[in-house]
Amino acid sequence: MAIEKILVADDEPLIRRLLQEILEKEGYEISLAEDGVAALEQIKKESFEMVITDIRMPGMGGIELLEMVNQISPCTLVVAITAHGSIENAVEAMKKGAYDYLTKPITPHQIKLIIQRASQHKNLLEENKYLREEINEKYHFEELIGKSSQIESIYRMIARVASSKSTILIQGETGTGKELVARAIHYRSSCRNNPFIKVNCAALPSDLLESELFGHEQGAFTGAIKKKEGRFELANKGTLLLDEISETTTAFQVKLLRVLQKEGEFERVGGTKTIKADVRVIATTNQKLEKNVREGKFREDLYYRLNVIPIFLPSLRERKEDIPLLVHHFLRKYNRQNGAKIESISSQSLALMQDYNWPGNIRELENIIERAVVMTEGKVILPEYLSLKVSSEEEIISRSEKMTLEEMEKRLIENTLQKMGGNRTRTAEMLGVTARTIRNKIKKYYLN
Ligand SMILES: Nc1ncnc2c1ncn2[C@@H]1O[C@H](COP(=O)(O)OP(=O)(O)OP(=O)(O)O)[C@@H](O)[C@H]1O
Ligand SMILES: [Mg+2]
Repeated sequence: MAIEKILVADDEPLIRRLLQEILEKEGYEISLAEDGVAALEQIKKESFEMVITDIRMPGMGGIELLEMVNQISPCTLVVAITAHGSIENAVEAMKKGAYDYLTKPITPHQIKLIIQRASQHKNLLEENKYLREEINEKYHFEELIGKSSQIESIYRMIARVASSKSTILIQGETGTGKELVARAIHYRSSCRNNPFIKVNCAALPSDLLESELFGHEQGAFTGAIKKKEGRFELANKGTLLLDEISETTTAFQVKLLRVLQKEGEFERVGGTKTIKADVRVIATTNQKLEKNVREGKFREDLYYRLNVIPIFLPSLRERKEDIPLLVHHFLRKYNRQNGAKIESISSQSLALMQDYNWPGNIRELENIIERAVVMTEGKVILPEYLSLKVSSEEEIISRSEKMTLEEMEKRLIENTLQKMGGNRTRTAEMLGVTARTIRNKIKKYYLN
């Protein structure tokens, strides 16, 4: 267990006691402190893997404590507890390097999950250090971020399936992290030191895909000057990721099925010698594959053969509570990459992101933060640096059948004004028009 000793700092004696009881039952060694000063005293004397601290405490509060812990004991993970509805505190804590935060009212289940995840995180860091030495840079593995119940169940799934050899089908909308999850499974499996090979099935026509995957013998077709090993062989003892599997032809699907049924036995294109590769196959798709099967676009037998272990990745709009964590993760990443020093994101920006429906999921969020880091002139990301479509725009357009353009315009201005707390300048910036236009429209539509 990577987390053993935990210090709980909270000024409410009952809460302290409850936390102690709950966590000791889980086998953790718990110390208690009634405020930041008392906590600090203990941290100077002993080492803790984790500090769980309330933000609001008399004397020294949680944020100050967090800053001190980072200096004195940088490997200690700090989890902040914030009051209901004070997203600013959570944002500040994350910005100052908290590992995670919990919002009141909190449940024992949430606390336990966070500690479990922190343990995995610590293990993973150690594993990653080892991997970095062992494995080629291009196979790098980024951390999966999120603490919603949907993503927690994905973590559990990854841990559970990593050690098996069964075929996995990962389904989810574009940008939900399918490839990231495939890599996570590979690097947590016993094959982690063997290759992780990816084939993008959408990028190649059927016959080229076949030779890419299974290789070919010299002279197999015009242009096959030399014998070539396929990706299947290259992935021997490792993992083969078949990306965008829905984009293959039925002819190809038949061939792939045959190889999977024969436990990795195949012939190179134009060859007769049987080759065997011991490969864990992971397929991904952003289509609803079951529907494709029903419509006759995807072979049913292959579907069942691939779908031994199904993993469905939730869209970002189904787990919006992960947005602040993701934003800070990418903020750190792109600060580092660009040598920028953006400190935070305004609460208005965050509110806009919470409202947005994220058709491009996490990839879209990542791109938006990357762009905002480059564009922001000050220290804080303001709404005008976010290249989000105003979400009401889409809602309004989708309900526009009987609405006039003017009505839509009115709605849009009305909604945006509301989101911007009545601030006309911000509304204008958000909608990409001048403040004067907004003033005139407000007059025209009697908005106020
Ligand atoms: N939970 C997560 N935490 C952190 N980053 C994530 C997470 N999920 C996805 N990402 C990042 O989002 C981007 C898109 O992820 P990925 O390429 O795995 O998506 P995908 O589902 O394969 O998308 P597509 O269907 O378009 O190929 C990557 O940069 C990835 O690192
Ligand atoms: Mg992908």
